Amino acid sequence: MIIVLNNKCNLTKEEFLTYQQNLEKIEGSNQIILCPSNVFLGLFNSNRIDLGSQNVSKNEMGAYTGEVSAKQLKSLDVKYSLVGHSERRKYNGEKPSDIAKKIKKLLENNITPIYCVGETKEERESNTYKDTIITDIKESLIDLNEEDKNKVIIAYEPIWSIGTGLIPSNDEIEEVIFLIKEQLPNNKVLYGGSANNENIDVLKNIKCIDGFLLGGLSLSIENLNKFINKL
Ligand code: 13P
Repeated sequence: MIIVLNNKCNLTKEEFLTYQQNLEKIEGSNQIILCPSNVFLGLFNSNRIDLGSQNVSKNEMGAYTGEVSAKQLKSLDVKYSLVGHSERRKYNGEKPSDIAKKIKKLLENNITPIYCVGETKEERESNTYKDTIITDIKESLIDLNEEDKNKVIIAYEPIWSIGTGLIPSNDEIEEVIFLIKEQLPNNKVLYGGSANNENIDVLKNIKCIDGFLLGGLSLSIENLNKFINKL
């Protein structure tokens, strides 16, 4: 299983260094990908864990104040990058056309994109969530050849589930995973949204899932350990 830790905008430098030391001690065969704040990417030091970024610029290096390019990430040994997270779409206005550019930049630099997609509560309730997800996938992965397309990891993150404690039933998650796999049969698919060390007893029975994308839980090593032990 792949476990992606999205620390979001959390931890100070001292807290990060302690966190990283404790993370290193986590045992087991699952692949762990840590996505810290950008400011800590250069402090990362691990043999056990892979490094991921939470975002990437859609542009090349150059006059883009505040941005971090895929080439710069690569120079820090970043192997994965989240792209299209709903928080970036909401607070930074990212559109599928931006996400498509970011995915291309990552692939050009041999960084694996972890592309996030999911529906709002309204889209779920009005039964339009399947259209939302399929349209977003088509627009975000547009123009990729088959080989590149297959490299993208998909993270299904229902927006209404992120940080709310609400999670879809296993049947609901499986329905979306199968929908994604119909479009992208060779891609790995993760689930993210309020997954924790208690609901993992249920979530671990989801069929055809390749791993989890964890937000809040990623910050507690103790609970993360419990989560991984139960997987
Ligand atoms: P939570 O696990 O805190 O719900 O966050 C999920 C998420 O957004 C991971 O990217």
